[in-house]
Amino acid sequence: MTRPLLYLPRAFPTSEGRLDGYELLGPDDTGRDTEVRAIALSGPSKVDAAVMDRFPKLEIVAKFGVGYDSIDVAAAQARGVAVTNTPDVLTEEVADLAVGLLIATSRQLPQADSYLRAGHWTTKSYPLTRSLRGRRIGILGLGRIGLAIAARLTAMKLEVAYATRTPRDVPYAYHPDALSLAQACDALVVIVPGGAATEGLVSAKVLDALGPDGILVNVARGSVVDETALIAALASGRLGAAGLDVFEHEPQVPQALVDLPNTVLLPHVGSATEVTRRMMGDRVLDNLDAWFRGDRVPDQVA
Ligand code: NAP
Ligand code: 8YV
Repeated sequence: MTRPLLYLPRAFPTSEGRLDGYELLGPDDTGRDTEVRAIALSGPSKVDAAVMDRFPKLEIVAKFGVGYDSIDVAAAQARGVAVTNTPDVLTEEVADLAVGLLIATSRQLPQADSYLRAGHWTTKSYPLTRSLRGRRIGILGLGRIGLAIAARLTAMKLEVAYATRTPRDVPYAYHPDALSLAQACDALVVIVPGGAATEGLVSAKVLDALGPDGILVNVARGSVVDETALIAALASGRLGAAGLDVFEHEPQVPQALVDLPNTVLLPHVGSATEVTRRMMGDRVLDNLDAWFRGDRVPDQVA
């Protein structure tokens, strides 16, 4: 039996042998676009209408990641192309990272590490920092990962509030939008999906509502935060600090963010551990295998 031709623009980890059922086409392989039946998509590259038109026999786009804002779902649906993602397997890992980033930003862990390495400790103690104690933490987006973050924060004896479009049956204070949440909180953790519906949700007004002692943590997508407004708020001291795992034009990061002393910046590593990335890769293959067997596809989102 011929193996389906799978276009793999960028490799990702999987368990041994999981790709054996496919013939693979890399980004530099040319001349076989008309035979491609599936795309497995990792990293920041996009699959839009033009990419789908390149592959007339395309049946399925399988995203390595839970967020699938890099795929034009409407264009896929118009062509009868299925779209899948990799939920659940990364939830706890990303929640760990989000809480770690919140602590690192509040307690200035990278800055304190640099201070020690530079030899300053022998002359002077590191300056005192903000505390998370007694603070209320707002979570923008209380889905799989948002809930896992809330559970960690509650265990840390911090008060949690949240904003989503639809209230949930949870013991946290509900706010109908990002502004109302920011007004009620000292720190905001952003974990909504990317895409047009959430673009710029964290606006200059939201950042101002967090205030000079406020902290923004973004582990969602760069598009959710107005990055220009964020830089202005951090530079002027209208916002206290920001911990960012995602950026508007990643992997490009504005030099202004790099130069600011009140930022902690990570290269989109929310799910980036060996064990979790391998589980994500296997989940991509679970979806592709089910599709080509004609079975129910576990994570079909369109
Ligand atoms: P999920 O279970 O679908 O949760 C999404 C949450 O966002 C839901 O509570 C949803 O509630 C809320 N939401 C959606 N649109 C909203 C809006 N316009 N305003 C307010 N709330 C809104 O997704 P998840 O698994 O938690 O993942 C969330 C996102 O995290 C992913 O889509 C991805 O972009 C990002 N992510 C980043 C990393 C990383 O490495 N940094 C890793 C994994 C995921 P309502 O529908 O009620 O509004
Ligand atoms: C991945 C992510 O780094 O799952 C997501 O939505 O952002 C991350 O887990 C990314 O999808 C890798 O392609």
